[in-house]
Order: sequence, then structure tokens, then C-alpha cells
Amino acid sequence: MPQSSDATPDTTPGIMPDTVEEQLAAATETLVAMEAIDGAGDDGATLVPIGVEPRYGKTKVRPETAADAPRSESSLGFETVRTDPEVRAFITQANINLGVLGFTEHGFRHVSLVASIARNVMRLLGHDARHQELAAISGYLHDIGNVVSRHAHATTGATLAYPILTRLGMVPEDIAVTLGAIGSHGDDGARLGEPVHPISAALILADKSDVHRSRVRNEDPTSFDQHDRVNYAATSSFLRVDDSAKTITLQLEIDSTMSSVMEYFEIFLPRMLMSRHAAELLGCVFHISMNDVVVL
Ligand SMILES: [Fe+2]
Ligand SMILES: [Fe+2]
Repeated sequence: MPQSSDATPDTTPGIMPDTVEEQLAAATETLVAMEAIDGAGDDGATLVPIGVEPRYGKTKVRPETAADAPRSESSLGFETVRTDPEVRAFITQANINLGVLGFTEHGFRHVSLVASIARNVMRLLGHDARHQELAAISGYLHDIGNVVSRHAHATTGATLAYPILTRLGMVPEDIAVTLGAIGSHGDDGARLGEPVHPISAALILADKSDVHRSRVRNEDPTSFDQHDRVNYAATSSFLRVDDSAKTITLQLEIDSTMSSVMEYFEIFLPRMLMSRHAAELLGCVFHISMNDVVVL
């Protein structure tokens, strides 16, 4: 059956013990627990305790930070990547392929927006020019794997990006971070995408925040599936980063005649979970507001 969103997890049972279904079950429990303590603050800001230090995933392993980076400038500029004919050909064909399969728009509009948002997340949280540039490059390249197949497109995208970035002159340590960001953004495998670095966290937040009616390619509303309906219902989406409050909020305007809030949560639970983990890696709390009401 055609799907139409990034959020298309493979729910085939038995692939790995840590499946999307298990993660979603855990997420649902977490959300229920969070709802139980709701009311502690009017704006929901106390739903999750804010640590002084970023949590950096499941262990004490601390990824590179801006302060630790060997250089403060990227070895390759975003414009060089954006204008590369091979990159442009891959993005074009990937978007065509996904259109045939019934997915929402994944072309230059999407990847340019994701590049811009990812760069801004890094900038607004005080990361250096290198992190900002690598976030933009990762954002622009993150969906090129769809030119091979939708399945495992994050992994194939990173594999495709390696020779391109090498050819364009990016140094190995910058390529390494970029490949990790691209390879960790997807939610179409047996596990949800997991942030491994501030740049990969910025990419996940940027990618998952692109929910908008302009992405829907199906022109017949009577044949919309759930993904079409939820995307079409979103008339505005904005990722607000507040460094002083340590919050990252996806602000959505939803046409509730097209889709219910409940339907949004049903469809986008995986991407909400990924966004929350990404915000936590950056030392922030993730929120969602719909029509000016904080719902998470
Ligand atoms: Fe993707
Ligand atoms: Fe994407």
C-alpha cells in the first residue's frame, strides 16, 4: 500500500529484538506517564526535568561538542554541495521515485528547508560555524538514499554521500560526522533513527518538523490516506528554539476539520519520539503546540 510520509516504520515482526513496535509501546507508556504529571505547570514546561548537561543518549559517552572540535570552520561549504550536479540529479530522481510510491514531497523544497532549519538549530544553540555548515550539508543530503530505495534510505544515503563529499574535498573527520547524521535520521528500518551527535540531533529535529500541506502530492482529497490528511491539515509548522529556556517547540497550526489531533499523534508518534531524544541530546526539552495549545 502506498505510504506518504517519512514516518513509515517497518513493523515486520522478528527482525530485531528492539523493534519499532517495542519502542512505540515504550513511548506510549512514557506519554501516558507524562500526561499523568501534566498540570505541574501551565505551559507544560515541567513535564520533563531539564538537566544542566545534555544527556547524550543512553550512555555516558559524550559526543564532540563545539568546544572540543579541532576546527571551527567546515572544510566544505554548503553552496558547493547544493550546486553539485550529481547531488541535484540524485535529489531530483529520489523525489520522483517517492512520488511514484505515493509519498509526500521529498525534493528541493524539503531538503532545502531541512538544511536551513538544521543550520538554525545549531546557530540558535550557540554551536560554531563548522557545526552549522555540516548540519546544513547533512540536511541537504539526508534523503538522497531514496534514489536507491525507500527501504533503509538513511543508510544508503550515507553510503552515496561518502564519495560525493570526498570528491568535493571535505576532510575525513567532517565526512564522518555527516555520514552519521544522514545514517541516523531515518525511521524506516527496524529501529527508530537515533541521534548520535549534535549535528544528527539537529537534522532529526529539522526533518521531523517538516509537516505541511504543500508536501501532499495527491490532488484528490477524497482519496487521501492518513499521512496525506495529517500533512494537509498542517497549515503552518515552525520549530522554535529557545536556548535560554532550553526548549525546542514544534509549533503547528492544524485545520482540525481535516485531521484530528489524535490522528496526528497516531501517525507521528515515531517522529515525536525521535525529536524528543534529539532535543534531549542537545540539552533541551521537546514540546509540541497545536493552535497555540501546548499538547506535549
Ligand atoms: Fe528521510
Ligand atoms: Fe526527510
